[in-house]
Amino acid sequence: MAAVPEVNLWFQLYCLRDRAVREDLLQRADAVGCKTLLLTSDAVLLGNREWDRRNFARPRQLSLRNKLDVLCHPRWMAQALWPHGLPTLGNIERYLPAEQRTIEGAAQFIGSQMDTGLDWDALARLRERWPHRLLLKGVLHPADAEKAVALGLDGLVVSNHGGRQLDGVPASLDCLPAIAAVAKGKLALLLDSGIRRGSDILKACALGADAVLLGRSTLYGVAVGGQAGAGHALDLLAQELRLALSLLGTADLKLLDSRALITTSSTFPDCELSR
Ligand SMILES: Cc1cc2nc3c(=O)[nH]c(=O)nc-3n(C[C@H](O)[C@H](O)[C@H](O)COP(=O)(O)O)c2cc1C
Repeated sequence: MAAVPEVNLWFQLYCLRDRAVREDLLQRADAVGCKTLLLTSDAVLLGNREWDRRNFARPRQLSLRNKLDVLCHPRWMAQALWPHGLPTLGNIERYLPAEQRTIEGAAQFIGSQMDTGLDWDALARLRERWPHRLLLKGVLHPADAEKAVALGLDGLVVSNHGGRQLDGVPASLDCLPAIAAVAKGKLALLLDSGIRRGSDILKACALGADAVLLGRSTLYGVAVGGQAGAGHALDLLAQELRLALSLLGTADLKLLDSRALITTSSTFPDCELSR
């Protein structure tokens, strides 16, 4: 990817237990010119993903229902597998023993490597080690945002991992205003989890985000139409964002603040609902 002209490379790191592997990943990222490192903090263990367990309990062993589904979509299957075959986790393949170089082997490796001891000291060491931009992903509490500012991080991703980790955590959007109050302007504030419409981007920016990140909205596009599908999903979001901005009577996302968002309680302070 680094060979693509003017590409702006980011690398997402999980805090792996094996320091040699972690260090090698950092060196490889640095060597290809990656200028942004994003450390994910909210997945040191996998959440209780019952849906995943039902669907992927036996990886590669498809249920009858899966097989029928695949047979009904031959074109999709050909597109998904051509030209490289089944996907693997290429970044970490070289660290696996030969017999473990499969997607399940790689997933097992990552699972066994997650460092549950990730803490602020570890982050401070990473800050010293990585000379370029360093972002922390998975923050929902303003106290953590304050610590990130104090450590000299360059950005935060306010995120609940798309609701895939701890059941019951608040929406990232609801956490954003308190975080913006302590960190806005001191580092870059990004938000993800649940951005599905252009108007969601507008709401996040009005509440203090400098930008949003997208997970499943582009993945759904990829699943349906490969690269073109991802492009289409991005186009839809951009169109919706432009339309929502025009309907609000403003052309510039940067000019928006929370006054653009009227909540029931601020509109009708005396109504029963708001109490
Ligand atoms: C299939 C899938 C794989 C993911 N893998 C990672 C990952 O390896 N590292 C990470 O930091 N987040 C990962 N995430 C979480 C996303 O980075 C992001 O926080 C989340 O999907 C945002 O929510 P959204 O999907 O509602 O946009 C993954 C999400 C999905 C759906």
